[in-house]
Amino acid sequence: MHISHGKLSSFVVSLLSYLILFSFLEDYVISAGTVQQNEAPRDDNGRAESSDGLEIVEPDEKVFNVMQYRDKATSIINDYDSAFSEVTIDQKMMWITFDDACKHPGKARMVIPKGQYKVNGLTFPGPCRSKRIVIQLFGDLIGPTDSSLLPNPYWIDFYRLSNVILLGTGGTIDGSLRDDGINCGDDDECVPSTPCNVLFEYCSNMIVKGIISIYPRAHHLNMEHCSNMTFENLYLNTLARSSDTDGISARNSSFIKISNSVIATGGDCISLDDGSTNFDISNITCGPGRGIRLVLS
Ligand SMILES: *[C@@H]1O[C@H](CO)[C@@H](O)[C@H](O)[C@H]1NC(C)=O
Ligand SMILES: *[C@@H]1O[C@H](CO)[C@@H](O)[C@H](O)[C@H]1NC(C)=O
Ligand SMILES: *[C@@H]1O[C@H](CO)[C@@H](O)[C@H](O)[C@H]1NC(C)=O
Repeated sequence: MHISHGKLSSFVVSLLSYLILFSFLEDYVISAGTVQQNEAPRDDNGRAESSDGLEIVEPDEKVFNVMQYRDKATSIINDYDSAFSEVTIDQKMMWITFDDACKHPGKARMVIPKGQYKVNGLTFPGPCRSKRIVIQLFGDLIGPTDSSLLPNPYWIDFYRLSNVILLGTGGTIDGSLRDDGINCGDDDECVPSTPCNVLFEYCSNMIVKGIISIYPRAHHLNMEHCSNMTFENLYLNTLARSSDTDGISARNSSFIKISNSVIATGGDCISLDDGSTNFDISNITCGPGRGIRLVLS
């Protein structure tokens, strides 16, 4: 683990604020009896805070609204997927919308409007032709309550993408797994491969902002082989008590900025594993679990 000198001071500051905020959270947990699902920071219109204009559709941007793909998704499901009952119409609709957004040569915006969407698994595969894709989440993505329906050790997967912005504007990523989560015990190998709500694999130049993630099977966000990623204004809350439920877990990832977020989990708040370098972490509220874990290698 290497932290450049420039980043060291902000890292120390983060650790200090972590210690201060940790004691605050602990008080909160005791007085409330249980960790509540707090509201993420909102502006006056009830949207998650934003000051960089990412939520505003630019004139040269093409909007792909998932609801406009619903009929097509229904017919495709009828034709090809009836044998696979675990593929939902909502899920199919997301896939084909993203496929179109990904092929669009200019700027694209995939909009998921307010509402609830049942998805048992979802991959956003790259590389894309688009100059930039904003995936804007107003609605709630709901995972399967039966974890045997998860075919992979992740629920939502961003794969080989670059210049993609995942923007939460009020929507929630709800893994729906309200049991105690997993328990790794002494199994060290368990941690990097544990199931997560969202996995980023071989991604770069991404911004993940305003995302609310709750009830994951184990981790909230895993990152593998990624670089130049910015995570901000996240709200990750695990109501399950598992001590192996981590907030953000990274392997072989570099130049990652994580800031202005609340990570309330039973396990590690942020875990930096094998080959992760140049992390800039600041203003993170951690607890009631552990803090920032560095695996030096
Ligand atoms: C890092 O990603 C941002 C987009 O999130 C992009 O604007 C910037 O140019 C990238 N930096 C490098 C060095 O690729
Ligand atoms: C680490 O990630 C980079 C991409 O960021 C990839 O090219 C490389 O193969 C990965 N290394 C290992 C050991 O997985
Ligand atoms: C720290 O992050 C919180 C959100 O968790 C935000 O409300 C607050 O403004 C941030 N503080 C600074 C100094 O950026």
